[in-house]
Amino acid sequence: MKGVILAGGLGSRLRPLTKVTNKHLLPVYDRPMIYYPLETLTRAGIEEIMIVTGGNSAGDFLRLLGNGQAFGLKHLNYTYQEGEGGIADALRLCEHFADNNRLCVILGDNIIQDDILKYRERYEAQESGARVLLKDVPDPERFGVPEILGNRIVRIEEKPLVPKSNYAVTGVYFYDSKVFDFIRQAKPSVRNELEITDVNNSYIASGDLHFDILEGWWTDAGQFESLHHAANLVAAQRQAQLAGM
Ligand code: G1P
Repeated sequence: MKGVILAGGLGSRLRPLTKVTNKHLLPVYDRPMIYYPLETLTRAGIEEIMIVTGGNSAGDFLRLLGNGQAFGLKHLNYTYQEGEGGIADALRLCEHFADNNRLCVILGDNIIQDDILKYRERYEAQESGARVLLKDVPDPERFGVPEILGNRIVRIEEKPLVPKSNYAVTGVYFYDSKVFDFIRQAKPSVRNELEITDVNNSYIASGDLHFDILEGWWTDAGQFESLHHAANLVAAQRQAQLAGM
């Protein structure tokens, strides 16, 4: 399985922090934001990784991460997303890299406490399709929200005014190569982006979207409150690690 980190976009919800730099280079407590998804992938044993960047300071990713030596990697791949076409548009740039392999895709602003190895293993036990990770949140209207009937997701709504559950679809997605066909079929949304939620709904329509509930804490870090919250969660974790030593 290969890994993709989506770290493009203009980070407009974090201006002026993102006026001259890329959101994913901002600090989350003691590390740049991009370190967290990179660690999430490497801790799940994924070693072939593509970083899709875009917007400001794209060259700084190379200066910061190089070939990924600090993460035990031999090599890192980079590509550049022009403009702000959305998550699915950024993923589209990875078709050649994926080369028909399965992918674990993670959004560059998603910070996760636990490792995701067991979810990777469950996905690998699937014959085909996709797998998403859900998390119980107090503010589902900020996210993609699943409607769950029995043990199936029947629909995902992007930022619904009236959420049909208390779950967020987190920014960790497992896909097979059909994802690129579904991206080609996607149409721009009201915010003029190709939505990953539409791609996931295509998997639902094909009867092949599975899910797990993510254990441990999870947060995005794309807004002032969530960026601050992420830093607090990481700080508490570092202190707990020190106390346990
Ligand atoms: C994106 C996705 C959304 C998902 C969220 C997770 O939202 O569109 O479905 O729940 O990431 O962080 P965005 O950060 O683009 O608002």
